[in-house]
Amino acid sequence: MSKIKLLNIVGARPQIIKASAISRAVRNNFSDHFTEIIVHTGQHYDKDMSDIFFDELEIHKPDYNLGVGSAKHGRQTSMMITGIEDVILKEQPDCVILYGDTNSTLAGALAASKLHFPVIHIEAGLRSFNKRMPEEINRIMSDHSSTLLFAPTNAAFKNLMNEGFRPENSPPYTIDNPKIYLTGDIMYDNALFFAELAERKKTSFLDQLKIERDNYILATIHRDINTDNAERLETILTTFRSLAEEYSITFVLPLHPRTTVSLKTNLGTLYNELNDCRFIRIIHPVSYLEMILLEKNSRMIITDSGGVQKESHFFRKPCIVLRKETEWVELVKNGTAVLADADPSKIKSEFIRLLKNLPDFDYPGFYGDGKTAEFILEEIRLMFEKV
Ligand code: UD1
Ligand code: UDP
Repeated sequence: MSKIKLLNIVGARPQIIKASAISRAVRNNFSDHFTEIIVHTGQHYDKDMSDIFFDELEIHKPDYNLGVGSAKHGRQTSMMITGIEDVILKEQPDCVILYGDTNSTLAGALAASKLHFPVIHIEAGLRSFNKRMPEEINRIMSDHSSTLLFAPTNAAFKNLMNEGFRPENSPPYTIDNPKIYLTGDIMYDNALFFAELAERKKTSFLDQLKIERDNYILATIHRDINTDNAERLETILTTFRSLAEEYSITFVLPLHPRTTVSLKTNLGTLYNELNDCRFIRIIHPVSYLEMILLEKNSRMIITDSGGVQKESHFFRKPCIVLRKETEWVELVKNGTAVLADADPSKIKSEFIRLLKNLPDFDYPGFYGDGKTAEFILEEIRLMFEKV
């Protein structure tokens, strides 16, 4: 029997990391069944936003890089659609795999579904119920163009049912008869796989940054609501500075390039002041192994990132979320993540509560058993076997 040809679409940093879980499972357990093509849209292109992950996570270099780069949503997405369409027509894959909710995800969904190639959406069903987020539009459109939808959490699975998806559908699955699954999260697979390796391979990284285990706060900011609004960004960063100084604790900020651009352009004086502050360590984006080392050893995490929120749970750290809402609602229900938006008094009060009086939190296994990639690949295999 010929192998099933998977065409993976990646573009943004977290998608490269997610694709590595699928690639690893193909290599280790399914090499007789699948071949993989990787298409990189080029949405992220700096070395520390892209190449570094291919090197470190041992995924083969992209078979195609569309080199789309940064642009406004419509222009960027349309260039991606054009490029992905050409690759699909040339490669004639059995299916197209999409990850998450970026413009690269949406472009893949539109290109593949219009050409009648089955779309497989990993991380389906997540909703913020805030359609001003570009990601919310991307998720909804991608889910409704998909044939197999893998929801990572109970909440995501329920969201799909509320939108009319039916778990009882039987094969053959098509875009009009899609199948939804409750799986775990492939990012949990990655966290388990790489956590110990990070400790081993990056032993001196904390020393290089001159920070000590359990004695620093890790913070990331990259959402458009926080970066493109100078007032919000200023509020968040000045709140960090005052907490760092008052409690003499270092804040480590591996800044996304979007945030650095905004900070330098709109808040140049603050940027210089932060760089001069002994408790603020602004650094370039770090590799995935470095990031999980920083997460594992931090005292607390403050972020607007989806991936980093979950990783705070994987590594049993409390998390303050710089947003009004989250798709990872189980974290907030559990009390281990709190929504603080960009409200300085809320950020401060939660910070103090979590720093001084860390409750004895429980970190339940919301995200599967670490073998989600294998589950997903087995279901894809069965789909093609049954056709
Ligand atoms: C994108 C995703 C977001 C995801 C994030 C992960 C969309 C709409 N957003 O947001 O869901 O959480 O990736 O990191 O798809 N830039 C560089 N170098 C790079 C990449 C970006 O300098 O390698 C700068 C450019 O100024 C660019 C800006 O970052 O305009 C934003 O990049 P873009 O890919 O459009 O969105 P992200 O904010 O990265
Ligand atoms: N990450 C990383 N280096 C960094 C910041 C984040 O490797 O400097 C990883 C992080 O550990 C997580 C993923 O990137 O696995 C999250 O990506 P990001 O925050 O860019 O996007 P989101 O998850 O919000 O879409």
